[in-house]
Amino acid sequence: MTSPNPNVCQTFNPSSLATLQSHFADLESSKHGEKWDQLWADGFAPWDRGRPNPALDDVLAERRDLFGSCFVNESKIGGMRKKALVPGCGIGYDVLLLSAWGYDAYGLELSETALKGARAMEEKSRKLNEYRVRDAAAGKGKVVYLTGDFFKNDFLGLVEGEGTFDVIYDYTVRLILDSLFNHKLTCNSFSVLSLLLLDLLGPFDILNFLPRLAV
Ligand SMILES: C[S@@+](CC[C@H](N)C(=O)[O-])C[C@H]1O[C@@H](n2cnc3c(N)ncnc32)[C@H](O)[C@@H]1O
Repeated sequence: MTSPNPNVCQTFNPSSLATLQSHFADLESSKHGEKWDQLWADGFAPWDRGRPNPALDDVLAERRDLFGSCFVNESKIGGMRKKALVPGCGIGYDVLLLSAWGYDAYGLELSETALKGARAMEEKSRKLNEYRVRDAAAGKGKVVYLTGDFFKNDFLGLVEGEGTFDVIYDYTVRLILDSLFNHKLTCNSFSVLSLLLLDLLGPFDILNFLPRLAV
């Protein structure tokens, strides 16, 4: 088994989408977890940019009107941190970025192999101090990786507090699931308090999808 190589940034192109479509063709959804895991184990991750989405960093820096503070009590520094969920986090670059911005950041994955890569990336980046704290007064939030299915509620029991999130950040998951399975990434299964659902598409051209920022 090959480990996912977070340093290789492959290109998402029509051929990658065709490979994904045939990989998942005619499969019932209960088999999807192992099929995603197989892709990571084979090192086939054309969506993987090897770094966080710069658009997320920008929006966290420039749209404080949307995000507010990283603390639940907006009016003071300290106390309970807001929780951010990254469903289908892959190697977890955006989880590390949200933690650097002071959120308690949860990365959720169906694939154990992806999470193995995410934990290795977290350790490496901690040693290299790659994700510098963005606001020294606020400090970093914690990083938690969970194995689970976004479309089920099981993983919510492993989330501190009441199993709610303040921010859900998706990068490429909804787009790819929509195109493969006609799924809808939805908040219906969550009990969410003051949720900010952020769906940013980065600079790569993902076939016929358009960039968008939905809040
Ligand atoms: C297109 S990749 C995106 C990975 C990551 N967001 C990135 O941009 O590098 C989709 C990821 O979602 C995971 N995934 C697919 N369906 C999922 C589900 N129902 N729940 C949680 N993770 C899922 C896959 O294992 C895969 O790592």
